[in-house]
Amino acid sequence: MTVNATWTTTTATTLTGGEVIAMDQQYVMRAWSKQGQAAMAVEKAEGIYFWDYDGNRYVDMSSLLVNANIGHQHPKVVKAIQEQAEKMCFMAPSYATDVKSLLAKKLVELAGGDMARVFFTNAGADANENAIKMARIATGRTKVFSGYHSYHGATLAASNASGDSRRFAAEIGGASGFVKFSNPSPYRDNLPFETEEALTAFYLKQLGEQIQYEGPYNVAAILLETVIGANGIIAYPKGYLEGVRNLCNSYGIVMICDEVMAGFYRTGTAFAFQQYGFTPDMITFAKGVTSGYVPLGGVIVSEWISEYFTENQLQCGLTYSGHTLACAAGLATLEVYEDENIAANVEKIGVLLKDYLEEMKAKHPCVGDVRTYGLFCGVELVLDKETREPLVPFNTPNRIMPAIYKELKDRGFSTFGRETTISVCPPLTITEAELAEVLPILDEVLTLVDATYL
Ligand SMILES: Cc1ncc(COP(=O)(O)O)c(C=O)c1O
Repeated sequence: MTVNATWTTTTATTLTGGEVIAMDQQYVMRAWSKQGQAAMAVEKAEGIYFWDYDGNRYVDMSSLLVNANIGHQHPKVVKAIQEQAEKMCFMAPSYATDVKSLLAKKLVELAGGDMARVFFTNAGADANENAIKMARIATGRTKVFSGYHSYHGATLAASNASGDSRRFAAEIGGASGFVKFSNPSPYRDNLPFETEEALTAFYLKQLGEQIQYEGPYNVAAILLETVIGANGIIAYPKGYLEGVRNLCNSYGIVMICDEVMAGFYRTGTAFAFQQYGFTPDMITFAKGVTSGYVPLGGVIVSEWISEYFTENQLQCGLTYSGHTLACAAGLATLEVYEDENIAANVEKIGVLLKDYLEEMKAKHPCVGDVRTYGLFCGVELVLDKETREPLVPFNTPNRIMPAIYKELKDRGFSTFGRETTISVCPPLTITEAELAEVLPILDEVLTLVDATYL
């Protein structure tokens, strides 16, 4: 189909929903998709909701891509962006600006421990890209360990470090030094250990052995999502991350925690690692730092990395590192987290959501497992609770999961997932009443799944 030529002079505000969709279909290359398919057009968003051009309202139960942590159009952040835009939209990274200095200080304080400085990036993938680069420079080593159950972004190194199938395209032509290990996925692995400690010891032994096989002094970094996000919302068994820290300490390996999805109060604390007994050498962040209002990411580095790059030049750079408008949005977003005591809301709503999802697990044969960490929750669908056989085989294109997401969306519950885990990750500002209104949709659709696919 060819778009009507008169549209080229049409302004955004006068387009109909149908025109927006047709032009998108014709001109826009959409991520992770075959091109030319119709996308839903969104006209506006506010709080936990967004609307299509027909006035249908959707509850954003995934916080879009688990980034709209404070919901949409928060007036405080919108105002901060407007004020910064009037004052100065952008200044080059080589200059200091008030918002960049303040945001870096704030992030270092939030991260705590011996975190010292921030390198700002545009988003999450380039945060990981630069963290990997810094680890390689600081150690003089090449290999980077990362888990099969992981996603770290779509740029070349981040994609090669990612474990899920989205890395395959980046592996064409390859990038050297990326080593995958089987990071824990306890429900799926279903190993016959009596205690969590024994399970953890097994996983750590495996990782320790693999490091030996690869040559410990060739390994620059171990990169891990503190809580696995896109690949199933999975927390590591007790003691695992601390054990990885010990392995890193033994061999001088840099431990990088990817907090791009799990950070900024998603699991209840500013950063998810703060709920464990260790500190990483670097933290990568993005998404929730601005709640997505303006793209921003970065790497928070600990004292020794900071000192290394005080002695040695930092061979990293981006035109938009510390983008002024993005930093203003970040500062305002961090203020919202504090002023509205988002951590307390995550704790309160997280308990309610956990109880509800556990109820769904007890009620529905198709729900094999539910995993809940604050408002970072996943519902894993199976064909058989006993055998844990997934509803659809992994890594296989299928129509079943998209059909389930469509059923949810048609009823006003918007979310996404990977493989057979449905993400339930609402904005952290969601109220008890809003949650109570939307959750019955999930129950309804799970009933449909039981009846249709089992
Ligand atoms: C854990 C994690 N790391 C990195 C990324 C990449 O972030 P971005 O898409 O902002 O580049 C994502 C994106 O979903 C993510 O979930």
